[in-house]
Amino acid sequence: MPRVPFMAIAHRGASSYAPENTRAAYDLALEMGARHIELDVHLSSDGEVIVMHDDRVDRTTNGKGPVADFTLEALRALDAGSWFGAAYAGAQVPTLREVLERYAGPAHLHIELKGRTPGLVPATIALVRAAGASPHVTLTSFSHDLLSEARPLAPELPMGWLVSQVDPETVTETLRLGLEQLCPRADLLTPALVEELHGRGLIVRAWGVSDAALMRAAVEAGADGMTVNFPDLLLDYLAQRA
Ligand code: G3P
Ligand code: CA
Repeated sequence: MPRVPFMAIAHRGASSYAPENTRAAYDLALEMGARHIELDVHLSSDGEVIVMHDDRVDRTTNGKGPVADFTLEALRALDAGSWFGAAYAGAQVPTLREVLERYAGPAHLHIELKGRTPGLVPATIALVRAAGASPHVTLTSFSHDLLSEARPLAPELPMGWLVSQVDPETVTETLRLGLEQLCPRADLLTPALVEELHGRGLIVRAWGVSDAALMRAAVEAGADGMTVNFPDLLLDYLAQRA
């Protein structure tokens, strides 16, 4: 049995169906019934925490260059929707502040610390606290350094380490850092691994769920949750097997 209620997490929103990390993708995730949303944060050149996956704006906007070279005003002037479809023309790059105001509560937000700009971690934590959103936020990262910085700054927030391999050192380090979650790539999960991690007191939350077969396998392995671009399929599968 899962140790926590299963987390069906819309990855960058319902990003199979709407442009990732935009309000359209988050709104659609909520409409589909998801109550967990994953998003990625970086710092703008003038210190605002903004929501985008890549280090550069090129793939998901009509601009070019590193996110960290853009002011908030310049980022807000970008079109973050047309690359996905004409129906989304003019979608704006969200700020973390507005995402917290609008979605923390209706959803639990899994905020992935992405940027390499110093100051991202304290700025993110300050915004979460200012919004009164701490009960509705989990911080995640692939970066050991960012999690090491975040853990002592925000003992109240659950945190998870995104990893591409799970070995004994990974587990020991996750526990040493005081993280609640270990987040392996989904194709690493087996029932035995999940059971072992549960036995060590960790919540097991998968990422990298590329298709429905892997989604089903991760559920059956006993994962406590996963990010998916297609939350509708995951919610349907969970409802069927309930
Ligand atoms: O669930 C975490 C997942 O988002 C990590 O991969 O590259 O999509 O940020 P990425
Ligand atoms: Ca992410």
